[in-house]
Amino acid sequence: MIIPRFYLFILASVAFIGIWFLSYKPFLYQQLSVSQSTDGGRSLPLNHSLPPLEAAGNETLGFQKILILSTGPSWRTRGLLAAAHLTGLQITIPPQPPIDEAIVDAFGQLGGDDDDEEHPPHGATIAWLAHLDLIKHAIQLDLETVLIIEDDVDWDVSIRHQMVRIASAIRNLTHTEQRDQSSHPTPYGHDWDLLWIGHCGEFWNEDFETVSFEDRSACPKAQYSGWARNYLSHLPDHHRSIYWSFNPVCSFAYALSRKGMRNVLRVAGGGRGEAFDVKVMQACKAKALRCISVVPEVVHQYFPAASYGVNSLVDIGNGEAVGPDETEFESVMGSTDNILESARCNALWGKTCLR
Ligand SMILES: *[C@@H]1O[C@H](CO)[C@@H](O)[C@H](O)[C@H]1NC(C)=O
Ligand SMILES: *[C@@H]1O[C@H](CO)[C@@H](O)[C@H](O)[C@H]1NC(C)=O
Ligand SMILES: *[C@@H]1O[C@H](CO)[C@@H](O)[C@H](O)[C@H]1NC(C)=O
Repeated sequence: MIIPRFYLFILASVAFIGIWFLSYKPFLYQQLSVSQSTDGGRSLPLNHSLPPLEAAGNETLGFQKILILSTGPSWRTRGLLAAAHLTGLQITIPPQPPIDEAIVDAFGQLGGDDDDEEHPPHGATIAWLAHLDLIKHAIQLDLETVLIIEDDVDWDVSIRHQMVRIASAIRNLTHTEQRDQSSHPTPYGHDWDLLWIGHCGEFWNEDFETVSFEDRSACPKAQYSGWARNYLSHLPDHHRSIYWSFNPVCSFAYALSRKGMRNVLRVAGGGRGEAFDVKVMQACKAKALRCISVVPEVVHQYFPAASYGVNSLVDIGNGEAVGPDETEFESVMGSTDNILESARCNALWGKTCLR
């Protein structure tokens, strides 16, 4: 076969550009890939033009982005990415900016020595500042809505189906038309600052205006654990209940609207409290924020097997032992409270791991 010189020249140029591009890829990757995404798309097909309510079951659960609060790659993020891949969620893990010790001390001491002032312990202060940073990041990205998730959590394999019905219930609670005709339709309507979908318990009493619907994927009362077990016992079994927040704690997963991001910075940006979640909860309770709780929760913290005695980063920051190296326990299945069909354990071990 005769190849004219001219074509050889083109071929050489293409090869050269190709090599140039490949050799620059690591550089581009470093520059551009400040996030890691997964896009498994297993449970629902990709469709960018879903009607508003059904969009709550899309790859970002009907929010504009899912941002993960994380200090970097570890057993926490690896399991999280596996769970996201299994359930077809697109998550972004932005690098956390360094948090200076002097800032931690200063923030923890805001409010001074007044006896009425509460001060967060060291580890809780670091986590608090990290949450504020991530919310500022969401504001810089100019997001309409964001779902913020801590990196050691877990959810049910059916989370995308769960969220569509939760969105419908939130619309009912906020008296938003089921068929939103507004120019910016969103699955969850607009009448909220914060949706508390991942927590470690919430209070309830019968005076609360509550929207409940049957959900066989909700953790049954008999298997629900935690301090709020007693309150849950008054709600219908095998149901998901949605109401204005009263006393949710633990910031495992929460969504913020555009105005919610600013309002949380306003109420929690100045420290003075036990921890970020408690400060936000108090603002929800005082109606300084419009917060909605989902009970039982759809996101909960995963724990490595108890025998290894692994502490959370917040506890370690507060003075608890650093514990074993992750290589010792990462491959051993742990457990997740209150999640029937764990996505993390399914992805990593093909099993459920309800405690
Ligand atoms: C996406 O969803 C919309 C609204 O339900 C529907 O009309 C459209 O046909 C869907 N597109 C695809 C590719 O499935
Ligand atoms: C999911 O739906 C929300 C709300 O409609 C939208 O902002 C977001 O871009 C969608 N996510 C994806 C991955 O299409
Ligand atoms: C919300 O209200 C509509 C209309 O009454 C109803 O069809 C729907 O089932 C309700 N959704 C939930 C989750 O309660």
